[in-house]
Amino acid sequence: MPIISIAIQKGGSGKTTTTLNLAAALQRQGKNVLLFDADPQASLSEALGVRDEPENNLFTELTREIKGQGGDLQRVIIPTKSGLPLIPSSIELAGAELELVSVYGREQVFTWMLDKLAGKYDFILIDCPPAIGMLTVNALVASDFILMPLQAEFLPLKGLRSFMHHFNAVHKLNRKLEILGFVLTRYDQRKIMNREIFQLLEQEFGEKMFQTRIRSSIQLAKAQQEGTDIFHYDPHSHGADDYAALAAELLTRLEAVTAAQAAV
Ligand SMILES: Nc1ncnc2c1ncn2[C@@H]1O[C@H](COP(=O)(O)OP(=O)(O)O)[C@@H](O)[C@H]1O
Ligand SMILES: [Mg+2]
Repeated sequence: MPIISIAIQKGGSGKTTTTLNLAAALQRQGKNVLLFDADPQASLSEALGVRDEPENNLFTELTREIKGQGGDLQRVIIPTKSGLPLIPSSIELAGAELELVSVYGREQVFTWMLDKLAGKYDFILIDCPPAIGMLTVNALVASDFILMPLQAEFLPLKGLRSFMHHFNAVHKLNRKLEILGFVLTRYDQRKIMNREIFQLLEQEFGEKMFQTRIRSSIQLAKAQQEGTDIFHYDPHSHGADDYAALAAELLTRLEAVTAAQAAV
């Protein structure tokens, strides 16, 4: 059951869009995928049509877990229009950053909660907030992999290097954490700058760069406004093609990782 955090500290990189549509693409490949909204902004929950904060959500269970009252994520999982089950977020989650600071094992609270779901899903995808605080650290400590979406508009090397610094720190807490890869989003093949950025990133990160690039597509934004994924909204769009290709590339990559681990 790989747990994958979709993370990068910059907002507008395509984290939420990628979490949602990659999950939908994996679901179409027959995978049982759970979505986990770890961002207090709740954009993923909103993009799945959850407009009113559910009474039970990630924050309520996190609070129970911290207080030793047994947080139960199973209790908050809701079905959505796209057919993907979701652990919804809420704005109060922003306060959890502060609350966690005084908790023993504060970096591991998501891990304890997710352990109780072991074996129930083929994949869990966590949409992280656009900052490296306690919530993102909790997500990374609970994860097997990180997937980093990068906006193709400008060279994100500085932000990436700072992220790698945090990755190395988190890796000490979670030795199994691996970078699954980097994927360019809002890509426009016609723009020289976009092509150059892909080449530069390939030089820096080699095969960690996904060959699939998510093209700019207004349909992706529209699907979110409609509260669903791109396959339900417009299965013939570039967005649907690109996320299907990303899912296929990701599955191939995971098979290679699993084979390498088995060979050790
Ligand atoms: N490939 C794309 N083409 C066009 N718009 C996109 C694309 N990916 C994301 N967007 C839009 O860009 C904005 C930011 O994307 P989002 O996924 O919310 O980023 P993040 O979660 O990293 O802040 C959203 O309005 C989203 O609809
Ligand atoms: Mg987001």
